[in-house]
Amino acid sequence: MDYAQSHPLFREFPVSGFLGGSLKLIQHDLKFASDSLSWVSDPELGKQMGADFSVVSIKTEEDRIFEILANSDEYHWVISLDGKAVGSIFIGSIADETKKAGVRAGMMSYLLAKDCRRKGIMTTVVQEVLRWAFEEGGFEVILSRVLDTNAASIGFLKKIGFIDDGTESLAADEKSYLDAKEWRRFYLRRG
Ligand SMILES: CC(C)(COP(=O)(O)OP(=O)(O)OC[C@H]1O[C@@H](n2cnc3c(N)ncnc32)[C@H](O)[C@@H]1OP(=O)(O)O)[C@@H](O)C(=O)NCCC(=O)NCCS
Repeated sequence: MDYAQSHPLFREFPVSGFLGGSLKLIQHDLKFASDSLSWVSDPELGKQMGADFSVVSIKTEEDRIFEILANSDEYHWVISLDGKAVGSIFIGSIADETKKAGVRAGMMSYLLAKDCRRKGIMTTVVQEVLRWAFEEGGFEVILSRVLDTNAASIGFLKKIGFIDDGTESLAADEKSYLDAKEWRRFYLRRG
């Protein structure tokens, strides 16, 4: 089954409002494995995102992209800047978060290549994804969970209007390789 069939509301779209180049949100593809390998090869990224990127290769990235394309519980976009894949954004854990919230909900996460940061790219991308989520995707709540050491992402979520919903402890298996003590939860409601 292809991605469009397993993700009926998914679509690719241009991101307006960024003046530094042509920004688009597009479907992930195995051809982006070398670009995504360059993002996850940054030793700081795993600690920022709470993911184990200690052993990465083209093969692990291709496997990860394969899993992303097969996951029908998540909407996932690659961020393309002037035709180059510079990051990704997704809304996942939809079944779980919807069950907990009692309304359609999903957990948003995002990352941008280091040399593209602090230019307003993710602000415009997230605004466009939120518009899609609330107007087309049927979501009532979008959540995000960030490590308490990730000042950039905490500053980012606060600036775009997400509400701080407190903290939650790391799981025992996460504590071994992270400097953080807690996750910080944020949410935004439709309307
Ligand atoms: C978090 C991240 C996506 C921000 O993307 P970005 O395109 O650089 O963000 P923007 O340029 O749109 O910044 C918007 C605002 O976010 C805040 N912000 C962004 N980077 C920041 C930093 N390093 N420190 C503090 N605040 C920061 C600022 O308020 C900024 O506004 P300003 O530049 O006017 O001060 C990027 O730093 C990243 O990819 N980090 C690594 C991956 C990650 O941590 N993902 C989150 C996991 S949930």
